[in-house]
Amino acid sequence: MADVIGRPPRFVDRVAVLTGASSGIGREAARIIHAEGGSVLLADLEEPEWLPDDGRAAFVATDVRDPAQVERMIAEAVGRFGRLDVLFNNAGTPGRLPRPETAELPIEDWDDTLDINLKGTFLCSKAAIPHLRESGGGAIVNNASMLGIVGLPDSAAYCASKGGVVLLTKGMALELIADDIRVNCVCASFIDTKMFNDWLDLQDDPDAARAGAIEQLPIARLGTAEEVAEAAVFLASDEASYIVGHALYVDGGYLAK
Ligand SMILES: NC(=O)c1ccc[n+]([C@@H]2O[C@H](COP(=O)([O-])OP(=O)(O)OC[C@H]3O[C@@H](n4cnc5c(N)ncnc54)[C@H](O)[C@@H]3O)[C@@H](O)[C@H]2O)c1
Repeated sequence: MADVIGRPPRFVDRVAVLTGASSGIGREAARIIHAEGGSVLLADLEEPEWLPDDGRAAFVATDVRDPAQVERMIAEAVGRFGRLDVLFNNAGTPGRLPRPETAELPIEDWDDTLDINLKGTFLCSKAAIPHLRESGGGAIVNNASMLGIVGLPDSAAYCASKGGVVLLTKGMALELIADDIRVNCVCASFIDTKMFNDWLDLQDDPDAARAGAIEQLPIARLGTAEEVAEAAVFLASDEASYIVGHALYVDGGYLAK
């Protein structure tokens, strides 16, 4: 039997663009891909704190709502690192918190949530596809949500945006697999990142709200950014070579109920 010395690095000579990569799930995904030999282009509204100075990581300030900034982001990755293999569409917003009921939802809030979560995913994919084709294939991973699969009161815009991401994933997957580009998404539940904690901070009793969220999860704890990032990076890797158009639940069992 061959000696088992661990898994070989999965991203040597590969180039990944990750949006929303200055914090949370995006930052963890960038760390994993970089640690496994890849070059990473981090894109976000905010400057990243983590940015290795080894020639295999760079940051470009990007608002995924803006087609010109998105084009510049992809051009920067290809110009700097020479190719594109992976796009992780991770940038997202919960919408204005606390979220109002649908009848009270300002139209600008609806537009903003859909523009960042859904249109941003489309714009980045549109800009990346020609370069993924030029590389002879690759992977797009979208960060959807369990709220793209099931509903939650007072979350109409967020649910609509993430449901859109799930079916954008499947639509693009069927179209792009002919070019060896696999498109998949992750659907997370309550993950202990800034986004979740911003919501907690607005509750009358944040500790009780945290406990209430955990109570809804069969696994009886929040997820971590690393746990969702590991799933997303798996979908981006060759280990997922036969996985196409899949919505992978990373939810501690929430959607199994
Ligand atoms: N945290 C959760 O409970 C949870 C659950 C399910 C899905 N998600 C999804 O995971 C993704 C990552 O969120 P996170 O939990 O890591 O939160 P986070 O707040 O740590 O990270 C989100 C990042 O997206 C960036 N961003 C926001 N708007 C942007 C824009 N217009 N252009 C570029 N970047 C922008 C933010 O600056 C931030 O760095 C989001 O799409 C979110 O909807 C999160």
